Amino acid sequence: MKSITRRDLIMGTVKTTSALGILSVPFSKVFGATPSQTEGPFHPVNQDNDLTRKSPQSPLAVGQIIYLYGKVTDEQGRALSNAVVELWQAAANGKYNHPGDPNPKPVDPNFQYWGRDVTDREGKFAFKTIKPGEYPADTNWTRPSHIHFRILRPGYEDLTTQMYFSPESNQESNLLEKDLILNALSPADRKKVIINFKPAPASANLEADAKVGFFPIEMRASR
Ligand SMILES: [Fe+2]
Repeated sequence: MKSITRRDLIMGTVKTTSALGILSVPFSKVFGATPSQTEGPFHPVNQDNDLTRKSPQSPLAVGQIIYLYGKVTDEQGRALSNAVVELWQAAANGKYNHPGDPNPKPVDPNFQYWGRDVTDREGKFAFKTIKPGEYPADTNWTRPSHIHFRILRPGYEDLTTQMYFSPESNQESNLLEKDLILNALSPADRKKVIINFKPAPASANLEADAKVGFFPIEMRASR
């Protein structure tokens, strides 16, 4: 059996031994409106929903502050309260805080790297975090900026997926177009996980350079 590569880890294909390799893994399986994506190797323990500082008094992490809002619904569009939304990601330099990440870049000591929120009565959740950096997945593959999610709600299929950022440069656009995980999805499903972040309105009273995005998530009922 061949040794496990970083590419295997990222594609979630470590357990695969067939001759078809990664092609035999159904990583593009879709649950409800939000497509499922491989969990990746860096799923952590949970924390709160502000990843920009480790505590309210501690220093701010490096990078572009983003506010990530969302709403969890069922297949009929009804809000799902008490859904657990877990998030984990790389820091602004593309480095995960995980011993399995071979990226030689330094860990940001002030970044939380993971977070957790529970949806309210309207199905809403919120995170304050940093736009993650791109990182090398293989010699010819750089993953675009993305955030990993896992959503859990009794009565519904667990949903693990990844959220991406609308490109703000040709470089970002190229990485999205070439990403093997994103492109395992249909064009329609890709649109569901690529989110447009805009400057926060002045009326929101957020940091001057903060950006805001909204990620709608639809869960499929357990069969
Ligand atoms: Fe990742």
